[in-house]
Amino acid sequence: MHFISYSVLGLTLPLACIATLYERADQLPASTSYDFIIVGAGAGGTVLANRLSDNPGTTVLLLEAGPSNLGVTDAIIPMLPQGLAVTTYDWNYTTTPQSGFAGRSIEYPRGRLLGGSTSTNTMAYTRASSEEWDRYAKLTGDSGWSWKNMQKYMLMNEKFVPSADGHNRTNQYNPALHSTTGMVSISLPGYPHPFDSRIIETTKELSKDWPFNLDMNSGSMLGIGWPQQSIDAFARSSGATAYLAPQYLARKNLHVLTNAHVTRLIQTGTDSGKPAFRSVEYTTADVPTGGTSTGPRITVSAKKEVILAAGAIGTAQILKLSGIGPQKELSALGIKTILNNPSVGANLTDHPLLSNIFYVNSNDTFDTFTMNGTLIAEDIAVWNATHQGPLVDSPLAHLGWARVPSNPYGADTTAGPTTPHYEILFSNGFLSSTTPLPSSGHFMTIVTAITSPAARGSVTLKSTNPFDQPNIDPNMLGTDYDMYLMESAVTAILKIAAANAWKGYIIKPFEDLAAATTPAKLKAYIQAKSATIFHPACTAAMSPKGASWGVTDPDGVVKNISGLRIIDASILPVIPSAHPQAVIYFLGERGAALVKQQYGIN
Ligand SMILES: Cc1cc2nc3c(=O)[nH]c(=O)nc-3n(C[C@H](O)[C@H](O)[C@H](O)COP(=O)(O)OP(=O)(O)OC[C@H]3O[C@@H](n4cnc5c(N)ncnc54)[C@H](O)[C@@H]3O)c2cc1C
Ligand SMILES: *[C@@H]1O[C@H](CO)[C@@H](O)[C@H](O)[C@H]1NC(C)=O
Ligand SMILES: *[C@@H]1O[C@H](CO)[C@@H](O)[C@H](O)[C@H]1NC(C)=O
Ligand SMILES: *[C@@H]1O[C@H](CO)[C@@H](O)[C@H](O)[C@H]1NC(C)=O
Ligand SMILES: *[C@@H]1O[C@H](CO)[C@@H](O)[C@H](O)[C@H]1NC(C)=O
Ligand SMILES: *[C@@H]1O[C@H](CO)[C@@H](O)[C@H](O)[C@H]1NC(C)=O
Ligand SMILES: *[C@@H]1O[C@H](CO)[C@@H](O)[C@H](O)[C@H]1NC(C)=O
Ligand SMILES: *[C@@H]1O[C@H](CO)[C@@H](O)[C@H](O)[C@H]1NC(C)=O
Repeated sequence: MHFISYSVLGLTLPLACIATLYERADQLPASTSYDFIIVGAGAGGTVLANRLSDNPGTTVLLLEAGPSNLGVTDAIIPMLPQGLAVTTYDWNYTTTPQSGFAGRSIEYPRGRLLGGSTSTNTMAYTRASSEEWDRYAKLTGDSGWSWKNMQKYMLMNEKFVPSADGHNRTNQYNPALHSTTGMVSISLPGYPHPFDSRIIETTKELSKDWPFNLDMNSGSMLGIGWPQQSIDAFARSSGATAYLAPQYLARKNLHVLTNAHVTRLIQTGTDSGKPAFRSVEYTTADVPTGGTSTGPRITVSAKKEVILAAGAIGTAQILKLSGIGPQKELSALGIKTILNNPSVGANLTDHPLLSNIFYVNSNDTFDTFTMNGTLIAEDIAVWNATHQGPLVDSPLAHLGWARVPSNPYGADTTAGPTTPHYEILFSNGFLSSTTPLPSSGHFMTIVTAITSPAARGSVTLKSTNPFDQPNIDPNMLGTDYDMYLMESAVTAILKIAAANAWKGYIIKPFEDLAAATTPAKLKAYIQAKSATIFHPACTAAMSPKGASWGVTDPDGVVKNISGLRIIDASILPVIPSAHPQAVIYFLGERGAALVKQQYGIN
């Protein structure tokens, strides 16, 4: 919306020579059957595809509805944040009317290409707090998910690399906590912002509420610090660039099929009384969201397992279309229920976001190029020629995490006292999905996001058409508890903006924020301008073995079903108070290890 999309610039970007990336079903070698079929090539699916195929004797098919990521400029240059806009590489979903947003529906982007949302996201990389992982261990009854036991999987995912400008990173992170040998490249910002020193001053002046946090990936998140981002110095690092890099695509036992929209799973029989689901039905007809197609459906079967990794929206939709879900909802649409499980699609949770904008006294903001097509073309040429300049970074300059002392509207939702209730993000320009970009001016945005909401929503089927989007109701700010957190967060950033550290820089709040002068007007501003930070999760939650609720066991295996596992954002029992991509990569790393262990794969 505010960032123009530059996918047709004719950039010369290296197109890898690839051996086993197929675009049409009839290109797949005919006689092949697969041990594992993975649905969806996002954070979860790419890890599974890579790790399971590292044994040459194990055959893997990865099905992805979208196209390849190769050569997609918007998914390569970090500062082209196409993720905020509805683009060619998106599912183009919208939510149901949100009561917490005064009845507004919002756009609900989800990546639709290799890498999934890791190819379109804003690249903040946070592990979540140690308390968060320890709570996952407790909620699932599996100590394998604890912070301590997850360390090795975190290090397998992460490859810390120097920043684009090669600056000295002393006092910007703790290298002792990081790996330089994992898969996804992680780096600190590689181009300075005009307010970097003011951020550090803020942590001194307001040290009680906003202490400096050297490394928010240490397990303890509170405070303000430098953002770690999934950027390989100057270019996006994603599930696709890392786990589906050319050397992995070259594996003869890994087949990746793009443009393959999975329409449902098919029951293949019964194993010791449980329905087995080892067949996947898909089509390579390229149907837009909301369209229809009677084009040919292809069925492919797995010898061992089907692994769903279509994300928090896609996975719930596919399960329901396949007869796994709440009987009442399925019967109403004429779908035969094979397993009645009311937890499928329930408890959808997301992080509400609000862009708080300020006029600033600087000419050095990214507004110069978001408002000027000539200048962005020049900056792209600089990026292309030197791999330097303002486009090497995401729009996120610094991150901060905080708690409220108490919340009158309910019991604490966080995993513990070092886990935040909300997040603030500093951005060096006008960054909003709900307010039109002005034609001139210089701005700073301090985003506030609620990271431990109490509200729960749902994903339900709108129809039996697999190309329709489901009804997505994240129930944003749907509780007084969550609204209290957002009001507290906005109040907190107004205090930051008024600190001495920002004297001479912040001129005044943007008109909508300036008008929020009373509690009622603040609430109206929040309801009118909030949106999502794009973190839907929890729609097919893990629960302990034998639990009466939940969709999967602690290893991702679907309860009371044979041959079917889920490894993506949907299995999280609670949304992490963090940016979730790293968390889902880690689910993938441990999930792959559990699959290999179960089948004796080395
Ligand atoms: C705009 C945006 C910004 C974000 N910013 C950040 C950030 O800064 N930091 C962060 O940590 N997280 C961020 N996220 C969230 C993060 O990217 C996701 O939480 C994460 O990628 C989810 O992983 P996943 O595997 O569950 O799903 P995804 O990564 O979304 O992958 C799901 C894949 O399944 C495919 N699929 C779905 N349905 C079907 C079907 N029927 N047939 C075949 N394939 C299908 C999709 O096309 C997609 O490729 C952002 C997300 C978005 C959209
Ligand atoms: C980086 O900065 C630190 C602290 O200022 C200093 O001790 C160190 O020598 C610097 N490293 C390099 C390579 O210049
Ligand atoms: C989303 O919208 C874009 C722009 O209109 C379009 O190119 C794309 O095909 C759409 N994607 C889907 C899955 O409908
Ligand atoms: C939603 O999650 C809670 C735990 O957070 C659980 O008790 C409840 O059963 C879930 N609801 C459904 C329908 O699964
Ligand atoms: C920004 O540019 C304008 C026009 O060139 C100039 O008048 C102004 O002083 C500049 N402001 C700053 C803070 O550099
Ligand atoms: C846009 O950028 C170009 C190239 O730097 C510059 O010459 C021009 O003055 C800018 N236009 C505006 C309106 O600032
Ligand atoms: C990018 O650089 C290559 C040479 O490395 C050049 O051929 C190409 O024209 C450049 N593209 C742009 C848009 O600058
Ligand atoms: C699974 O089956 C057991 C035994 O029949 C039953 O008690 C349990 O409720 C079922 N769980 C789900 C999620 O269907």
